[in-house]
Amino acid sequence: MAFNLLNKDIETLTCPALVVFSKASSQKDKPPKVTHSELHKKLAASLDDKAITGKHQEVVLFRELNYKGFRHVVVVGLGKDNQQTHENVRQSMAAAYEAIKALGVKEAAIHFDGVATGKKDAADFAKATAEGLMLTSYVFNELMSGKKEEKELDVHVVTKVNDKAMKAAFAEGIILGSCVNFSRRLGDMPGNLMTPTILADTTVEAAKGTGVKVTVWDKARIKKEKMGGLLGVSNGSAQEPRFIIMEYRGTAASKKPVCFVGKGLTFDCGGISIKPSAGMEEMKFDMCGGANVIGTMLAIAKLKLKINAVGLVASTENLVGPAATKPGDVHTARNGKTFEVNNTDAEGRLILADALSYATELEPQVIVDAATLTGAMVVALGNTHTGYFTRNGGLKGKIEKAAVQSGEWVWNMPLTDFHVKDMKGTYADLSNISAGKGAGSATAAAFLEQFVGEGIPWAHFDIAGTGWAVGNRLPYCPKKGASGVMVRTFVEIAKAHI
Ligand code: BES
Ligand code: ZN
Ligand code: ZN
Repeated sequence: MAFNLLNKDIETLTCPALVVFSKASSQKDKPPKVTHSELHKKLAASLDDKAITGKHQEVVLFRELNYKGFRHVVVVGLGKDNQQTHENVRQSMAAAYEAIKALGVKEAAIHFDGVATGKKDAADFAKATAEGLMLTSYVFNELMSGKKEEKELDVHVVTKVNDKAMKAAFAEGIILGSCVNFSRRLGDMPGNLMTPTILADTTVEAAKGTGVKVTVWDKARIKKEKMGGLLGVSNGSAQEPRFIIMEYRGTAASKKPVCFVGKGLTFDCGGISIKPSAGMEEMKFDMCGGANVIGTMLAIAKLKLKINAVGLVASTENLVGPAATKPGDVHTARNGKTFEVNNTDAEGRLILADALSYATELEPQVIVDAATLTGAMVVALGNTHTGYFTRNGGLKGKIEKAAVQSGEWVWNMPLTDFHVKDMKGTYADLSNISAGKGAGSATAAAFLEQFVGEGIPWAHFDIAGTGWAVGNRLPYCPKKGASGVMVRTFVEIAKAHI
């Protein structure tokens, strides 16, 4: 699979397939337009009889049209001409990619001119085009014995305009798309093939040549470092836990780093407070927060952002071996706070407690974490929005802006002292489950807050609903499988701290 931005007059190309776009008019009774003027004329009859309407993601295929050097022509709808956004473009590119793939051709050209209307849009939309194509091309079939070799496919995004910003934006989109796909694969691998050790080794391998330094702590080191939460959760498992530290230096050492923290629970059966068996296989995705932090760090390095960044992933299984943590057990986190484990299935917050304590010691500019933390988040927001929690107004503003830039949906959730109060322990400082009813995601966030140093801007992103199976709403995401959500937004958050 190769996607490139080709600075050429599209009429001079010879290619088995050409994709052009259509836009619906925002004015009533005005006909739609095909963005390629000659094809607009040639396809007038199809426009007249409303076979082409310009509707967003509409695909109209003209097989064997033999227009100039192109055998087949595909017309993909972009939606109303006054409602073009980069997310629209990303989604339309997903439709374009699927159409090209269905044609079975080895090469295709996409007519980019006319997709955007201005110079600013051109760069934004070029980035969205690269992301849309790259993200849609993701397949996870490496565990199938009769795995179909993916056909070689070259897609040229063709534009007459020779613009530096557009080229840079397209290249950025390709990097982001490939890093998201890297994170998706980590999430899609089953628990037996993506253990904490394999996750750490894969990270070390992927970081080679990127400038990211990776340090991995094994069980003995985790114990020495007093990470009682991570250790306690790992007690029931035959697999050793790992603590993964990724460091990227993009500016002066004196500049405080941006710190990303991820939950890397490679399989969560709930522990002694075991989960029901129906759907339990999905809990291989409980490391998506960690996987997406790894993808974020790789993207930051590949984009050579002028910041210092640290990625921390606490990784373990949550199983029921003879040494497993029992309900009522008390453990001590790295920052000295003690907690009662009143439900062993609320384990994500325990491993994040240590990771956030460690993050605090680095005195970063900001801490941002991602975790598939609570089922309550799925109930609250479903698979459309990622709920985030922060009490820092400045950071909230940066997050909202970052999400507009990335096109990912986020929603600000409440976090108050009442939620903190609900997490007080009876025999230890804290309980890992709430004394109150409801607000399960907010009380989990309140627990996490106890491990973040005062004065450090911090936000927690609960991706339980958006971390996987979002393909029913986003055409560039797998229907089943990891989404890689928040990698793009976290990169934007990093940029906001340059
Ligand atoms: N990994 C789960 C959260 C989860 C549930 C993610 C469903 C995605 C879909 C987490 O470890 C968990 O089990 N949390 C418990 C906490 C409860 C016991 C307080 C939950 O949400 O039920
Ligand atoms: Zn759990
Ligand atoms: Zn979990």
